[in-house]
Amino acid sequence: MRERVVAIDGPAGSGKTTTAREVARRLGFIHLDSGALYRAITLAALDAGLLPEQETRVVALAAQLPIRWVRTERGFRPEVAGADVSEAIRETRVTARVSAYAARPAIRDWVNDQLRAAAADVETGVVVEGRDIGTVVFPHAGLKVFLTASAEARAARRLAQEGKERDPTSVRRQTVELTRRDEADANRDVAPLRAPPDAHVIDTTDLSFDEQVSRVVELARQAFA
Ligand code: CDP
Repeated sequence: MRERVVAIDGPAGSGKTTTAREVARRLGFIHLDSGALYRAITLAALDAGLLPEQETRVVALAAQLPIRWVRTERGFRPEVAGADVSEAIRETRVTARVSAYAARPAIRDWVNDQLRAAAADVETGVVVEGRDIGTVVFPHAGLKVFLTASAEARAARRLAQEGKERDPTSVRRQTVELTRRDEADANRDVAPLRAPPDAHVIDTTDLSFDEQVSRVVELARQAFA
């Protein structure tokens, strides 16, 4: 039987998180946001004054605090030393540095272990989103999707999501931030952002949210029938 994993990869702001959450809800699967774990370990490292190159110490810190995945009704949320960090991980200081920490192999191994352990605990199936889910973390996923959209569309969506103005200057600034992170994620040596060869590539620039969710759900129903 095919592994009951839907792997959703794609660049920043391509709609992975909202899509993955809704796809999981419609399928009765559990949602795993790998980026949230990269953000949680980055937050902990920044607060402890540890640099990305001190990756072994960062991972030791993650075990010691600990950084844990806590099961919620439909997914998992990260906790650092017993505190819910769902909001803190979205702070600009974390967003600006997360790609540097995510480029370190020891940190990637730690996140991958957490993802696989969480998925192994779920009986129904999981929707896992990230940059390397279909290529590295779950290469045998029953369905692989790669979401793309133009940089401007992604920037506008991210601003809307954060409740910010979408004037041309803000969109331009946000486009620069997303593009800078995409380049860092696509050009790193370990597990770079890339569409898996066997993925369904969906360009969401001109799709409504409902259309993009429905396409993935339809593909999943075929894959897991
Ligand atoms: O939601 P957003 O697109 O802003 O990013 P995210 O999914 O929260 O991921 C934040 C960062 O974590 C990315 O820019 C990558 O540097 C890293 N990441 C990764 O390297 N591999 C993953 N599977 C997921 C995230």
